Amino acid sequence: MVLASEPQWLDKDIEVEAELEETVVYAVQDLMSQVWTNLLHNSIKFTPQGGRIAVRLQTLEQGIEVEIRDSGIGITGEELPRIFERFYKVDKARSASGGGSGLGLSLVKKIVDLHEGSINVTSRPGEGTAFVVRLPQQLK
Ligand SMILES: Nc1ncnc2c1ncn2[C@@H]1O[C@H](COP(=O)(O)OP(=O)(O)OP(=O)(O)O)[C@@H](O)[C@H]1O
Ligand SMILES: [Mg+2]
Repeated sequence: MVLASEPQWLDKDIEVEAELEETVVYAVQDLMSQVWTNLLHNSIKFTPQGGRIAVRLQTLEQGIEVEIRDSGIGITGEELPRIFERFYKVDKARSASGGGSGLGLSLVKKIVDLHEGSINVTSRPGEGTAFVVRLPQQLK
């Protein structure tokens, strides 16, 4: 997942750091790979030249936790609760420059819910954004 996006971050001179524990998780693989791809693509898209992205996977007692953190433009507290809505984009003007449809995160949220997981986001404008996905290792 990280490697497949390599050309995109190399283009922007973004430094990517990955700390991935080996683990096993019960999930629909194709769907879960859409989650990581969407989150990573967002980080690349909203992080300016020369920024940093860190991906970390940890095993917890009750499942796994994946964090995707970037040093990008960030999201204001006002916008934050809305980013998982379908078609929601903070900067609508960017659609003209091929910025995407605003569907990515709504899909991410659906897939995570389907796996009985959770997704949380923290962000500071101008400093960066971190998404944390937690997944149970087995469905109940
Ligand atoms: N890592 C991030 N840093 C800053 N803003 C973000 C980040 N991830 C998402 N956003 C904001 O949340 C909005 C919604 O994200 P989402 O992935 O749903 O849509 P998109 O990336 O604009 O379009 P699509 O995913 O359909 O190509 C984005 O338009 C952006 O404003
Ligand atoms: Mg997106």
